Amino acid sequence: MRDVEIIGIGMVDFGELWTDSLRSIWAGAALAALDDAGVSEVDLITVGCMSPGLFVGQEHLASLLADEIGMAGVPAGRVESACASGGLAVRSGFAEIAAGLADVVLVTGVEKMTDVDGADATYALGTAADQEWEGFHGITFPGLYAMLARAHTARYGTTREQLAAVAVKNHRHGLKNPHAQFHLDIDVDAVLQSTLVADPLRLLDCSPVTDGAAALVLASAERAAELRKGRPRVKIIGSGLSTDTISLAGRADLTELAAVRRAAERAYAMAGKGPGDMDLAEVHDCFTIAEIMAIEACGFCEPGRGGPVTEAGDTALGGRLPVNPSGGLKAKGHPVGATGVAQVAEIALQLRGEAGDRQVEDATTGLAQNMGGSGGSSIVHILEVV
Ligand code: COA
Repeated sequence: MRDVEIIGIGMVDFGELWTDSLRSIWAGAALAALDDAGVSEVDLITVGCMSPGLFVGQEHLASLLADEIGMAGVPAGRVESACASGGLAVRSGFAEIAAGLADVVLVTGVEKMTDVDGADATYALGTAADQEWEGFHGITFPGLYAMLARAHTARYGTTREQLAAVAVKNHRHGLKNPHAQFHLDIDVDAVLQSTLVADPLRLLDCSPVTDGAAALVLASAERAAELRKGRPRVKIIGSGLSTDTISLAGRADLTELAAVRRAAERAYAMAGKGPGDMDLAEVHDCFTIAEIMAIEACGFCEPGRGGPVTEAGDTALGGRLPVNPSGGLKAKGHPVGATGVAQVAEIALQLRGEAGDRQVEDATTGLAQNMGGSGGSSIVHILEVV
């Protein structure tokens, strides 16, 4: 297997981008990444996008997008794993280079979610749940994660305030990220008094509906050595993918995200590292309970300790292991297909030492964890400074 590095990073501002189309948002991120990498030709384009058909009425996305940046003719394909589509795009680009099938790959993620109204966005997202066992009975993602929160509370005593602490921390981090959808300084009371969405989850426990795109250029170590001579270099040292039952009814234990645990174990094994080696992490906080369960599943704390360690400040910038310095899905926003690419982009930026006000000092190794639906799939990447 060949070594794979990240040589280009491209982000656009996340938010409700009324005046932009899916293709223009995507092109903004893709061109920024190519510019950062200093390349104008690639061997392959991968696109992570969950549901362009339902959100903007457009399928056959990869060809359309390649053409948008003058690259019609370049091999291109879209991958999908619900909200983990972006992570899967990173993994496919990584695998192509590692296998020697490509030297330089443009890896992208995109979603344009606000061209439909809230009910249609909820429907589109809900297609990632198990339709026969969940969707047709009326449950949506806030409801599914509310059930996970209730199970976690029943078993471990996780409190409402501990859930709120995740949102408060991530919104504080988001204040330092110019690309974030929200720049809001909130406290625990604001979370506890926000509108109830699905008991116990409130508005400020939820990631928002977002438009956005993110892109990376990956290259073989040989090409990276030429193209990033004299500049910080970042390598992907681990990639793990796993699945679980989509339906919560099919799971033996609702207090653990088994797909996340298995994906993390696979990524750690490939990297020859463990949770204690990580200097920072971006995890999939689509709801506050998701971050608590994700940090447990990645092995950053014991099962049941996710709430207390968050409340103690261990996962805040300046803490023992900063989690979601970008603001996470909660504050940065969650354009579902773009999220997994944006998470890896944040870790790469941090490891280059280019994260500005939110820079984690002396970071050399970091982890990005992306998740589909309520944990039916998960992808973990581990990055290290070369
Ligand atoms: N966090 C903070 N503020 C939010 C927010 C969020 N998640 N969602 C909306 N807002 C704000 C809006 O900016 C708006 O503020 P304004 O009045 O100052 O302009 C206000 O709340 C109302 O926004 P609106 O878009 O009408 O909210 P909504 O009630 O239609 O949607 C949710 C709120 C929580 C239902 C929606 O964001 C949602 O479905 N989130 C989950 C998305 C999801 O499931 N993703 C996949 C995860 S697996």
